[in-house]
Amino acid sequence: MAHEDGDLYHAALIALLEGVWGDGFLSPGGPAEIARLVADHDLSGAAVLDIGCGAGGVDIALVRDHGAGFVSGVDVEDTVLAHARMRIAEAGLSDRIGLAKVAPGPLPFPPQSFDVVFSKDSIVHIPDKHALMADAWRLLKPGGWFIASDWLIGHDDTPSPEMAAYIAAEGLDFGMASAGRYRDALAKAGFVEVTTQSRNDWYRVTARQELARMRGPWRETAAAAVGPDFVDHNIDIWERMIVVLDKGEHCPTHIRGRKPG
Ligand SMILES: C[S@@+](CC[C@H](N)C(=O)[O-])C[C@H]1O[C@@H](n2cnc3c(N)ncnc32)[C@H](O)[C@@H]1O
Repeated sequence: MAHEDGDLYHAALIALLEGVWGDGFLSPGGPAEIARLVADHDLSGAAVLDIGCGAGGVDIALVRDHGAGFVSGVDVEDTVLAHARMRIAEAGLSDRIGLAKVAPGPLPFPPQSFDVVFSKDSIVHIPDKHALMADAWRLLKPGGWFIASDWLIGHDDTPSPEMAAYIAAEGLDFGMASAGRYRDALAKAGFVEVTTQSRNDWYRVTARQELARMRGPWRETAAAAVGPDFVDHNIDIWERMIVVLDKGEHCPTHIRGRKPG
């Protein structure tokens, strides 16, 4: 659903998602989920690329909580990038995080620019997982890690009617793929130690808590900011999402692989 500013992630959607997921976040879990994704990887001083940086919260967490040396955040939309710049300035981290608008496709950085290629719930918008992983391989230094979370589908068949209805309700350009497709894309690019770890159990519980909050007193606060119809539209999305989380067809997943060297 493109909005008056022309972006899929328009100002009202950013306001609503930040209200549910926290300032700077357009995906669930906040800094705690970033920490689970980083796990025991040492990011101190690392040059990190963040694909689909959104509203900047991920990049702030990577620097502030994990000591990344410099994060280069890229995104395809102006509205999220303007918002991210504001959040990053607010956090006093403009000297540690650089943002760039990019076109979909190969990213405009020289080979071997990064120690870590990171992404949180954005690759769902990039249909060609094999091309993306090949580009991540090109951009990583030998020994570097690809570390991502993303919204996967439980299979590569036609989505069930419930899944199709959920995807249509989101109104975003989802190009979902299975964990097998992600692992194949990473392996074909040359990555080793490839793993995928479903976060479905965690998000089934968390999404219910989010929905309860959206239906509670928070609804009035959000309605004052973005209008009651838009809040109710998102409550409908969450209801549909919980159905497909319960079926295991919607699978938030952690994905990792190492470039040998
Ligand atoms: C669900 S949001 C996640 C944002 C952020 N990573 C977070 O976790 O808060 C997905 C983001 O991916 C961006 N995006 C969509 N297509 C993209 C592409 N081809 N390359 C990079 N980013 C893209 C969107 O504009 C949006 O900001």
